[in-house]
Amino acid sequence: MLNFVPLCDIFHLSMISQAKISDDAYNADMSTEFENMKAYIGFDEKDVAHVRALDLELRPAVPDIVNGFYDAITRHDDLISFFQGGATQLARQKTLLTNWLYELLSGPFDEPYYHKRRQIGETHVRVGLEQRHMLMGIELIWQGVIRNMTSDASSATRAQLTSLHKLLMLDLSITLESYKDHYTARVQKHAKASMEEKLTRAEHLAEIGQLAASLAHEIKNPLAGISGAIQIIREGMDQDNEHRPIITEILGQIHRLDATVKDLLQYARPVPPQLQTMRMREIVERVLTILRAEPAVKRVSIRYEPPSEHVILQADEAKIEQLLINLILNAAHASKENGVVDVKTSSTNGNATLCICDAGEGMSQEAQDNAFEAFFTTKARGTGLGLPICRRIVESHGGTISLESQLGAGTVVTVILPVTADDKLTS
Ligand SMILES: Nc1ncnc2c1ncn2[C@@H]1O[C@H](COP(=O)(O)OP(=O)(O)OP(=O)(O)O)[C@@H](O)[C@H]1O
Ligand SMILES: [Mg+2]
Repeated sequence: MLNFVPLCDIFHLSMISQAKISDDAYNADMSTEFENMKAYIGFDEKDVAHVRALDLELRPAVPDIVNGFYDAITRHDDLISFFQGGATQLARQKTLLTNWLYELLSGPFDEPYYHKRRQIGETHVRVGLEQRHMLMGIELIWQGVIRNMTSDASSATRAQLTSLHKLLMLDLSITLESYKDHYTARVQKHAKASMEEKLTRAEHLAEIGQLAASLAHEIKNPLAGISGAIQIIREGMDQDNEHRPIITEILGQIHRLDATVKDLLQYARPVPPQLQTMRMREIVERVLTILRAEPAVKRVSIRYEPPSEHVILQADEAKIEQLLINLILNAAHASKENGVVDVKTSSTNGNATLCICDAGEGMSQEAQDNAFEAFFTTKARGTGLGLPICRRIVESHGGTISLESQLGAGTVVTVILPVTADDKLTS
């Protein structure tokens, strides 16, 4: 929450303070800046003369302009914090704005004028007054000028009013100039914070990855030993032994643990792809055979119509197999009983495209945003490594993976792989 100080204090501060000039170069820059601004806006001696001529006529109207200004701004809740001092404060502010207007009309529009106006801007920045309030304030003052200077009784000319408008814009430009550094600093601070957050997250993931790799490594061998021992026990059992189903269940669970450990190892220590020429159709059909026994896949039908022309690419078969398994399993898990999962392959412009489409539960926006993050899962038994591994595999082949999903309607995951390996390949 920004702390606002009364508007009167801003004017007060800026009007009583003299420009603090400590550095010659800085001052020279400032005066060039002012001359440049005048040149941009086309404010010259003719305009100065016009404003001076208006001064006589506009001076009696200043109280009306000031009252109109405060009537308008005190109607708004977001500016109410400027008026906590009640009527006395309001009267003080009106006096300060009146003086500010007199100074605006009388000039001279020289370097000290510029420094004073610039300080007003700096004070605004310091107290957190937003730019939009200044823009609106200038607009209200302009409306007051027009209200008073365009009546039949007024002798103000169009040229004089144009010069005054230029001066108001010049004043606003000077004040806004002070915001430049402030906003640049804010944008830089924001960029730095988000970069730091990304780095912390990357370091955190690297640590988790290392931990997972060593844990997985420690688990892998004893698990293989347990699995082998249980299989020996099962082989020694009679076919009708009542404990046989229990042993089968234990083996199933060991298989699941083994798959998780392999996923962890693969994610933590990716191995560069071993490229060979492969036909997509053969891989898809092999994967569908492997998956046929999976409970999630048994509940759905998988449609695959190979294209008339072979999709041939240079890739690591084992990795593409794993990619397909992960994506088809996700699609099957998300599908309803008897749902359909489509596997489509094609090749165009030197790329092989693979699409896995389901009409299942779809994904929330949050799930879509995080699906490729390691360990993100919405499943009770998921590890959240399936899609991150897919992304690693695809990127290590120089390809891309993306998903489109609609909650309740389904998900399409699209993988694009270059047909021939090139220097985009990474580990
Ligand atoms: N086809 C899909 N339909 C709906 N949600 C999906 C689909 N594919 C992925 N998701 C969502 O993305 C999450 C992350 O998927 P990911 O494959 O990385 O991990 P997981 O399936 O949860 O676990 P596992 O590591 O066992 O694969 C899932 O938990 C799920 O919420
Ligand atoms: Mg998965």
